Amino acid sequence: MKKIKTITCIGAGYVGGPTMAVIASKCPEIKVNVVDINEKRIAQWNDADVNNIPIYEPGLAEIVAETRDKNLFFSTEVDQAIDEAEMIFISVNTPTKTYGIGKGKAADLKYIELCARQIARVAKDDKIVVEKSTLPVRTAEALTSILHNTGNGVKYHILSNPEFLAEGTAIQDLLKPDRILIGGDSDTQEAREAMQALVDVYAHWLTDEQILTTNVWSSELSKLTANAFLAQRISSINAMSELCEKTEADVDEVAKAIGMDSRIGPKFLKASVGFGGSCFQKDILNLVYISQSLGLQEVADYWEQVIIMNDHQKRRFAQHIVKTLYNTVSGKKISLLGWAFKKDTNDTRESAAIYVSDYLLSEHAKIVVYDPKVSSEQVYADLEYLGTHDPAFIREQVKVVSSPTEACFQAHAVAIMTEWNEFNTYNWKEIYQHMMKPAFLFDGRNILNRYEMKEIGFEVYAIGKGPSIQIA
Ligand SMILES: NC(=O)c1ccc[n+]([C@@H]2O[C@H](COP(=O)([O-])OP(=O)(O)OC[C@H]3O[C@@H](n4cnc5c(N)ncnc54)[C@H](O)[C@@H]3O)[C@@H](O)[C@H]2O)c1
Repeated sequence: MKKIKTITCIGAGYVGGPTMAVIASKCPEIKVNVVDINEKRIAQWNDADVNNIPIYEPGLAEIVAETRDKNLFFSTEVDQAIDEAEMIFISVNTPTKTYGIGKGKAADLKYIELCARQIARVAKDDKIVVEKSTLPVRTAEALTSILHNTGNGVKYHILSNPEFLAEGTAIQDLLKPDRILIGGDSDTQEAREAMQALVDVYAHWLTDEQILTTNVWSSELSKLTANAFLAQRISSINAMSELCEKTEADVDEVAKAIGMDSRIGPKFLKASVGFGGSCFQKDILNLVYISQSLGLQEVADYWEQVIIMNDHQKRRFAQHIVKTLYNTVSGKKISLLGWAFKKDTNDTRESAAIYVSDYLLSEHAKIVVYDPKVSSEQVYADLEYLGTHDPAFIREQVKVVSSPTEACFQAHAVAIMTEWNEFNTYNWKEIYQHMMKPAFLFDGRNILNRYEMKEIGFEVYAIGKGPSIQIA
């Protein structure tokens, strides 16, 4: 039975970095190389001050401090790291295609394929290749075909090991996962041994019951299915939030009432301005594309509705701001608290704040952003990426500041976009005093006590709360 001595992970992103840091910490006898073509990102991972690593996750900096340059190494030497490892994780990005067939829906697998070709070119001895990226079902087939057609006699075993961590709680999720999923071929002794080698890595800190093994296709499809189910719950409660606003039902009360049904359960039932993040939308679109490609139009339509609902929720939040501010926000200062797609991460990909801002910019609002972990350059890059507005116009209309007091000073409205805990600790009375009147508060995450806010004097809008507590 092969004992793994060296692991290489291609891709030092939100998944590769934290996952490998935890593996290095739990498997001190295994050397773990994390490689990436992005030189800046690798330089940040190697920054002498661990507070400057490129990804913010509670607990991550401490683990990196403990393992880096002992058995965890970050580098741009991809070839060397491939050559050295018995097991190679592929953890590169798999974004939605922006061109050609499947544009706007299918996963772009060019980064995955480049990795496979690079492994095929460099490898001189047998490798276990682990798909860590989220991939369309049956991608392992393409990887097998690329890797096995090199003719240099190297044997590859391809495993699927999708990652279920959630940003913001990545380290806890990695240390105490609900389950680890490993998909592999069990036809031959060698294939079973490859699967066991990966099980043995996780067995350093997890029990047999936590490690689930399946065939490759089930594993690949389970990851897409998990994200689709999670996003569907958010869109379902968000759909109800709109109905609540029309009927004086309270969405948090409804969520609590249904969540106490053990068949439904209480998690992922928080109404909000809409889900963001790099995964939910991309993975559902991918599922929609796969279903369409297989002629399953009803299945595709069913899942697409989750995205349609989410887009609607973001848009109606922005529209509500405009409508409430007497149908015009032109030249008005709107303060956005939070830019990250959720709390405890600096990741802004697909964040609702981007889309709400884009809409408000079309209405010529002056936007001021404060987020405890997101840089101003990231905010500008996110808005420019959409391509709706001229970069010069964006920089003229959007200001990014480093304190909430500055963000809210003389603002016509404040909108809570991310559920950062610190937003609950602010002196809202003082914020109110320095705002334009009437002072409007739009809570896109339902984190503030709206009765207290109303008492202070705010005109409060909270998602999914009946009209009696809306604008007085
Ligand atoms: N972010 C999450 O919460 C999360 C959770 C579970 C699964 N996933 C999946 O994991 C995968 C990675 O996601 P991420 O958020 O870490 O992405 P990311 O964009 O943060 O990181 C990917 C990294 O891969 C690098 N890369 C791309 N091609 C390369 C190549 N040929 N050689 C070396 N490096 C290369 C990029 O430079 C980038 O730094 C995706 O498939 C995603 O769907 C993400």
